Amino acid sequence: MTTLRLVPASPLAAPAPGVQAWRCSLAGDAAQVPSLVALLAPEERARAERYGRPDLRLRYIVGRATLRTILGTCLDLAPEEVAIVRGRRGRPELAPRHATDLDFNVSHTRATAIFAVTYGRRIGVDIEHSERRLNVDGVARKFMTPREQATLRALGDDARRRRLLLLWTCKEAMSKATGDALAAPFRELDVATDEPFALVAGPAPYVPAHWRLHGIDVGDGFLATAALWTGP
Ligand SMILES: CC(C)(COP(=O)(O)OP(=O)(O)OC[C@H]1O[C@@H](n2cnc3c(N)ncnc32)[C@H](O)[C@@H]1OP(=O)(O)O)[C@@H](O)C(=O)NCCC(=O)NCCS
Repeated sequence: MTTLRLVPASPLAAPAPGVQAWRCSLAGDAAQVPSLVALLAPEERARAERYGRPDLRLRYIVGRATLRTILGTCLDLAPEEVAIVRGRRGRPELAPRHATDLDFNVSHTRATAIFAVTYGRRIGVDIEHSERRLNVDGVARKFMTPREQATLRALGDDARRRRLLLLWTCKEAMSKATGDALAAPFRELDVATDEPFALVAGPAPYVPAHWRLHGIDVGDGFLATAALWTGP
């Protein structure tokens, strides 16, 4: 059994039964790089080399080493034995040879990452800085349903910005569970963000009966959501 000793991941409260989540600082310690790089697959080392900025390279190395360590712990394998392949639209997934129903997803915002794992269904996660500034009206017009836009209009400026970010994490988490990513029909995914969060309407495969949305408590300064998909 591997441990999380080498990597700076700390467990978060389970967002839902059967879901494990971790938070990790990607800031890293340059002195640890050789031992972390040793955990990566050759194509990951090659990708790390392609980062022009040392801070971005370090974040990627810490993130991938942490992901491999978490997955290795779940699978009872060494981190470097975990085979990660690219699924739909590049979605990272475990290689079929692991013969497991474990699914995972990763999200990062600047130097903070979250990782989540579940079994028997697909998961997507998204994290945002809660103070992130964005063009609220422009994003709402482009990505929110008419009902969501009406809900947003009723809020004061800062509440509107925060609600928009929350809706965004819900939609992006769903898009990452399917692998659709940017190709997801964001403007047709109708999300209620009164607790409990829920998808209330959407085109297949975003059928409400197959989806659950759960907030992830990452701590002050962050908003994060896990989307669980039991379809198709
Ligand atoms: C690929 C995408 C998921 C990246 O999103 P992002 O916000 O830049 O980044 P995140 O940190 O949340 O996720 C990136 C991680 O998702 C994973 N990922 C990559 N492609 C993926 C896919 N098709 N499906 C699921 N996960 C994917 C990877 O682990 C990646 O990390 P890595 O590059 O270190 O391996 C894409 O959906 C995107 O760029 N979304 C933002 C678009 C937007 O404007 N959304 C509006 C919603 S209202």
